[in-house]
Amino acid sequence: MGLQMYHFAFASLLVLVAVRLHSYSKLSARPPGYPPGPKTVPFLGNLHQLPIKRPELTFAKFAQQFGAITGLKFGCQNVVILNTWQAVHDLIEQKGSIYSSRPTNAVADIVVPNGLNPGVSVYGDLWRWQRKTTMEFVGGVRTDALKAAQDAESTQMIHDMVITPEEFEHHVDRSFGAAILATVYGQRGKSMHPGSKLHDFFAVNAQWAASLGPTNSPPLSVFPFLDSVPDWLTPWRGWRKRAMHVRREQQRVYGGLLDETRTRLAQGKGTDCFLASCLRAQEKDGYDDTYLAYLAGALLEGGAETSASATMVFIMAMAANSDFLAAAQEEVDRVCGASRLPGKDDVAKLPYIRACMLEVLRWRPIIPLGIPHLTTATDTHEGLTIPSGSLIFINIWKINHGDSLYDDPGVFNPDRYMQNAYGSGLDDNATRGRRVNYSFGAGRRVCPGQRFAENSMMMHFAKLVWAFDFQPTGHLPVDSWDGWTEGIVVRPRDLKVSLHLRGEKRRKTIDDAWLHANEFLQQFE
Ligand code: HEM
Repeated sequence: MGLQMYHFAFASLLVLVAVRLHSYSKLSARPPGYPPGPKTVPFLGNLHQLPIKRPELTFAKFAQQFGAITGLKFGCQNVVILNTWQAVHDLIEQKGSIYSSRPTNAVADIVVPNGLNPGVSVYGDLWRWQRKTTMEFVGGVRTDALKAAQDAESTQMIHDMVITPEEFEHHVDRSFGAAILATVYGQRGKSMHPGSKLHDFFAVNAQWAASLGPTNSPPLSVFPFLDSVPDWLTPWRGWRKRAMHVRREQQRVYGGLLDETRTRLAQGKGTDCFLASCLRAQEKDGYDDTYLAYLAGALLEGGAETSASATMVFIMAMAANSDFLAAAQEEVDRVCGASRLPGKDDVAKLPYIRACMLEVLRWRPIIPLGIPHLTTATDTHEGLTIPSGSLIFINIWKINHGDSLYDDPGVFNPDRYMQNAYGSGLDDNATRGRRVNYSFGAGRRVCPGQRFAENSMMMHFAKLVWAFDFQPTGHLPVDSWDGWTEGIVVRPRDLKVSLHLRGEKRRKTIDDAWLHANEFLQQFE
């Protein structure tokens, strides 16, 4: 009798497992009317076809076979990839009310719960407040008031590079971090050595990015049942603890920065910064210190590493293409001469530097798949059905490399933006509604820091070519992904490039400019 009971219990368990697997296997099939895509297999959907590295390249291959809108299944999660600007325009931009949320993520729910970080916050009132507050500061023409700090920080970067040119990546990272520190917190980031604010920030940001990596936590949106598997049985064991550690570290760093801004405000310092205006509006807005600390922290996250990564691409492109470097130098020399470092008032006078910046962002987009959007209602588009709750990726890489859009898309060629504002020969009708640039995403979630970033990169790029010649000292990963970092934001790592000052006269100009910049930046100390 005992044995019969055992058999019965075992059989029941098998049936239960089979039923669950069957239901997951059904959910991993393509729903009716779904956009075309590669064949799915039960349970996994298309996961087995997904590489861990450079998924945008695999998605680009799918696009060649299946077209502008590709439908995939990651387990039971619907995933739709948009591969052309037109698809992005028709869906993300034209139907923004249902294409603008963000997916939940097990790690983010622990590190930044309740939508504290605007980049992962779901589409709703909290996100609207975060967005409005951010746009009032870094969006539109008001951003131009922040150019002075970007100008001064980029001057410090050049000055630092003259002293230790081999540490150029460190100086680039410091400069973009410090520009956010000055404008958002009213604080100075003069150095990035251990113990400094920027060092602390970059350390916690690296932990945050690593914790979001695919191998660090269970893919709960793909296989929700994993939530009920005991942690110690999984390859991600301890992931909740690790996420809690990142949460505490972020709280410490972001909370500490907010406290310092408040103390400085009480001393009458830093009254123009982003946090100062947030604190003034706090009573009216009703968002407590935690929300403010994380909103400011998100600007540091969004603004520092991104622009610095694009600058590393720029340095690589200049080192690899001496003709384009010469053309860029000719322009800055013509506008500024050798006795004046390019600055904020020159930005509008440097169309070739702008062309280089647009080409850097197009050629090697530093966020190749953007940040995923989530649909909040089922949509139909040209006979295709995109269910509510689908993850939507803008394949920025593919859009930027579409051969129907750009001549020789794989080639770095800033001249394309000198010949045509959009970088391609399409006539105005065809380009109606098209963005010049998809590297900042699109629709209601488009990067709010675009103008801030462009101003900053323009000044950094102009100063770099004004001050230095760049020479490769080894292999540069211009045509391969070996030697690039992995993650949401990517950049060429440990670039083998040497910097050479363009003459002694320029050293004197840099020293003089540094004196003024340092004086200006003292207000943030
Ligand atoms: C080269 C520089 C930059 C690039 C390439 C870049 C790119 C992006 C992309 C692709 C997105 C996702 C857009 C979408 O979902 O469609 C994004 C979002 C965001 N970016 Fe940037 N970004 C840059 C600089 C900045 C700067 C300087 C700031 C702030 C000062 C910033 C703050 C943000 C924020 C807060 C979001 C989240 C917006 C939301 O979800 O509503 N970014 N960025």
